[in-house]
Amino acid sequence: MSLFTRMIVGMLPLVPKPIVGFVAKRYVAGVKLENAIDVIRQLDREGACATLDILGESVTDRGKAEWFTQQYIGLFETIKTHNLFSTVSVKPTMLGLNIDEGLCRANLDLIAATAKAQGNTVCIDMEDRTTTDFTLSSYRELLARYGSVTTVLQARMHRTLSDIDSLPGDGASVRLCKGIYLEPRSVAWTEYHTIRRAYVSALEKLLSRGIFTGIATHDEYLVQEAFALLDHYRVPREKYEFQMLLGVDPGLRRLVIGLGHRLRVYVPFGKEWYAYSTRRLRENPDIGRHVVRAFFGLR
Ligand code: FDA
Repeated sequence: MSLFTRMIVGMLPLVPKPIVGFVAKRYVAGVKLENAIDVIRQLDREGACATLDILGESVTDRGKAEWFTQQYIGLFETIKTHNLFSTVSVKPTMLGLNIDEGLCRANLDLIAATAKAQGNTVCIDMEDRTTTDFTLSSYRELLARYGSVTTVLQARMHRTLSDIDSLPGDGASVRLCKGIYLEPRSVAWTEYHTIRRAYVSALEKLLSRGIFTGIATHDEYLVQEAFALLDHYRVPREKYEFQMLLGVDPGLRRLVIGLGHRLRVYVPFGKEWYAYSTRRLRENPDIGRHVVRAFFGLR
């Protein structure tokens, strides 16, 4: 990361919200569910499926956590009515994890039960290191109870290889990503190339154990490594898929689909776009140029 990019990333909290919104709008389907439905239809025409995410996290109000839970429950009905090829993804801190673990567990249970009843799946996204134990234990519990649930492992975490050992052998399904939260060196790899190596090791372990894996990355090097591992382990098409975020490298997305692989796009929508968008902007190698251009009103 250049000094200029680091400087812009450091200054992001000072950048006016409308400018952040302007630069980050490619990462979010829109404020309304209808916007997300349109995006999923476009992706379908491209040959990709989706996972829908309602934006919002770090909820501190019980009523709001329950409101989000009801929104998620309604989402499964919408997916069915509109015949959308989409699962859903949810963050535990949106469902009240920061208020009370029991509340969050009960909300996750309701969502997983609805997913099962509607023939769909919910992915429990992974947030920062303080949530890992809760997320994985909830995942194991709900998988045993309903089967309609997946979760996320972050390659940067030192614990990930042993977390793979603790996955049930039967019916486990995970998304593997690098991990967006910047964790300390005591618990996570922090060097770019070490994180890449850790990703390959975790992916190899998942695929060789026959665990369904969502290969979530836009790193072309890792996509190539994944192709080699899929070939080496003769992984059948129904045991993996690639996953990418809305607004990130559609060229790579088309390339992967064109080579005959299944691909799912993470489609976030909703009013609470700011935290998600700033995380995405921090990862955008061109953030400096985009922010400066937006600042001076250039397209
Ligand atoms: P890397 O960041 O090195 O990016 C590789 C290349 O992709 C870059 O060089 C650039 O070309 C392009 N790129 C990446 N980000 C960009 C951006 N924002 N704008 C423009 N170009 C960009 N994390 C987590 O902690 N918990 C989770 O639950 C999830 N869930 C999740 C779902 C899905 C479907 C995906 C794809 C990712 C996640 N992540 C996540 C995020 C993940 O951990 C990681 O932060 C990002 O995917 C970026 O890592 P890459 O592997 O793409 O590599």
